[in-house]
Amino acid sequence: MTDHFDLLISNGTCMTPAGRQETDIGILDGKFAAFGDLTGAEADEIIDAKGLHVLPGVIDSQVHFRDPGFPEKEDLESGTRAAIAGGVTAIFEMPNTDPATTNETEFQAKMTRAAGRAWCDYAFFIGATLANVDHLAGYERAPGCTGVKIFMGSSTGGLLVADDATLTAVLAAGRRRCAVHAEDELRLRQRKKIADEAGSAHGHPEWRDVETALSATRRLLSIAHSTGREVHVLHVTTQEEMELLARHRHLATVEVTPQHLTLVAPDCYDKLGARAQMNPPIRDARHRDALWRAVDQGLVDVVGSDHAPHTLAEKTASYPNTPSGMPGVQTLVPVMLTHVAAGKLTLERFVDLTATGPARIYGVAGKGRLSLGYDADLTIVDLKAERTITDDRMHSKCGWTPFDGMAVTGWPMATVIRGIPVMRDDEILGEAQGKTVRFQDTLRGEIDFEL
Ligand code: DOR
Repeated sequence: MTDHFDLLISNGTCMTPAGRQETDIGILDGKFAAFGDLTGAEADEIIDAKGLHVLPGVIDSQVHFRDPGFPEKEDLESGTRAAIAGGVTAIFEMPNTDPATTNETEFQAKMTRAAGRAWCDYAFFIGATLANVDHLAGYERAPGCTGVKIFMGSSTGGLLVADDATLTAVLAAGRRRCAVHAEDELRLRQRKKIADEAGSAHGHPEWRDVETALSATRRLLSIAHSTGREVHVLHVTTQEEMELLARHRHLATVEVTPQHLTLVAPDCYDKLGARAQMNPPIRDARHRDALWRAVDQGLVDVVGSDHAPHTLAEKTASYPNTPSGMPGVQTLVPVMLTHVAAGKLTLERFVDLTATGPARIYGVAGKGRLSLGYDADLTIVDLKAERTITDDRMHSKCGWTPFDGMAVTGWPMATVIRGIPVMRDDEILGEAQGKTVRFQDTLRGEIDFEL
């Protein structure tokens, strides 16, 4: 065994597949090369993680940047910088940019924009439309593609697969697990008057009500069953959907967001107005409690931030002319660690939801666990650190967070990507060196091989 490493993480408490272990970690050529007592080993660089917990790098599997389209709100540079500042080592970005990522040209353009500008590793979703359905099976296998994203209800941007016939065609094309925004477009249109007459964002969960989400998830599961396609239901918000999803786990995996676990109606709308407006909406305590039960019972596979930056100017228009979505890639880790500190979930469960889970459901190659030969991606956290989340700490170009003023316990102290420390003590280090995330079913031709 070598006793010279590029990077040595010493004295930390590491969240390994075998549980919490006091172990050093030796990193060579961007991979985990040794675990154990590495006293006496040499390294180009050492991070003393005494008193800290060393987690597999957090993968935020749902972010929306605005590049191309509105780079002044968020571009791939600022969005990924916010990610590493918040302890996130890889992001999967959604296709509702402008133009939307729905064909090879736009997909490759996004890959080009990311090269040399992304601070963390990345992959991009391709958006499903009626027009591209015949090409999706090919598109989803492109290097750097996470898979297909379906919007069953309109949200930011124009992507939409509203009817069952198109949804069936999309789910019948390709193999990867499809990521789905499940809100029923027809019902949204029928009920739009509720939003128009609401006068404030308090009306948002009334317009986009429980049935709007539930009926879409019901239709989705039925078509997933008939086509035999696995689906990932993004940002689940209702007790009723959780009860339904629990009966169809062979078909569906489940995401919740930190904001749906943390904010609650009507308080969030009293306090934040349209800044708390997102799709699907933040709901009342009955639903928030059900989401926590689903986390507890293993029903939730993934926590993703649904980072969706809009400017404060846009958010101060009058509802419903205000856009939906809130930033979150930088606050996912401290907000969820604060729930760990409060005993709402264990650190093991946090790792499952933010690293193992995203890697498992999308078939990520070589990421998501502290394991020999895996990419050396680390989120190093201080579980006891007390900080206050504030707008001015945010790297996102939108410059605000719904958690402004929140006292948190637990903070990312360092972010390491493929053995390269890219953030320490809130400072961004070096240059943007993000690479594409690779997927197990499309590795052929993508890797160097040497026995
Ligand atoms: O609230 C949301 N905002 N939900 C989405 O599905 C899209 C997102 C955005 O891109 O703004």
